Amino acid sequence: MQIRLMEGRDIPAVVSLDRQVFTDPWPESAYVQELYFNTNAHYFVLTLLDPAQARTWHTHRRRHASRLIGFVGMRVEGTHGHISTLALRPEWRGQGLGEVLLLTAVDQAIRDGARMIALEVRVSNQVALHLYGKWQFVQYSRLQRYYSDGEDAYLLHVYLDRDPAYILRVRERLAQLLTDLQIRLASAAADSAESYETTTTGTGAA
Ligand SMILES: CC(C)(COP(=O)(O)OP(=O)(O)OC[C@H]1O[C@@H](n2cnc3c(N)ncnc32)[C@H](O)[C@@H]1OP(=O)(O)O)[C@@H](O)C(=O)NCCC(=O)NCCS
Repeated sequence: MQIRLMEGRDIPAVVSLDRQVFTDPWPESAYVQELYFNTNAHYFVLTLLDPAQARTWHTHRRRHASRLIGFVGMRVEGTHGHISTLALRPEWRGQGLGEVLLLTAVDQAIRDGARMIALEVRVSNQVALHLYGKWQFVQYSRLQRYYSDGEDAYLLHVYLDRDPAYILRVRERLAQLLTDLQIRLASAAADSAESYETTTTGTGAA
């Protein structure tokens, strides 16, 4: 698994996950605009390691799409950061990966000189609200009928310069989550190799 900057080749998979997760998905052109024309934007993807060279573009695209786990977007203008999107494939949720993406974006904003970060979230989105609350995002205002289905959004802010220890906590937690993740993945890979060995040995004996 890797976390890296989004590239043009990721856009089809990102658009497909965006459509799966959000009721107001972005068109492909919005990602093209962000990646190629917005110098204030940083988009990251969390993927399984790159697929081996595929014979056809279609196969490559399908394999590549299945390896995208999630993505996050951050724009920084002056001292103002804005999280534009954050999504994880449903089957990968609840394991700290959403937090990895969020903190990667926050860390990027800090590096770019942001002193506050804003984002909008559906008032009903308990999981996301919990995650943002954990990182001191607080409600700044309520945006009436912000989404196309009529639901309101909370506009949340976090002020990075109000708590000097915040930046350190972000970086320590991110490092810890990434280490835990590597350990879990290594152990899962060892388990699957062991079960493959057992299966093939068993088949041979029968
Ligand atoms: C929001 C989202 C990115 C969170 O990712 P995730 O991987 O599921 O969350 P994590 O496992 O990293 O959890 C981090 C925190 O989120 C909260 N959380 C996660 N699952 C939760 C659940 N089922 N109920 C309540 N809180 C939950 C917890 O605060 C958790 O912290 P903890 O470890 O102290 O318990 C993911 O659920 C998602 O993609 N949702 C759909 C898209 C979306 O809503 N995006 C946000 C738009 S603003």
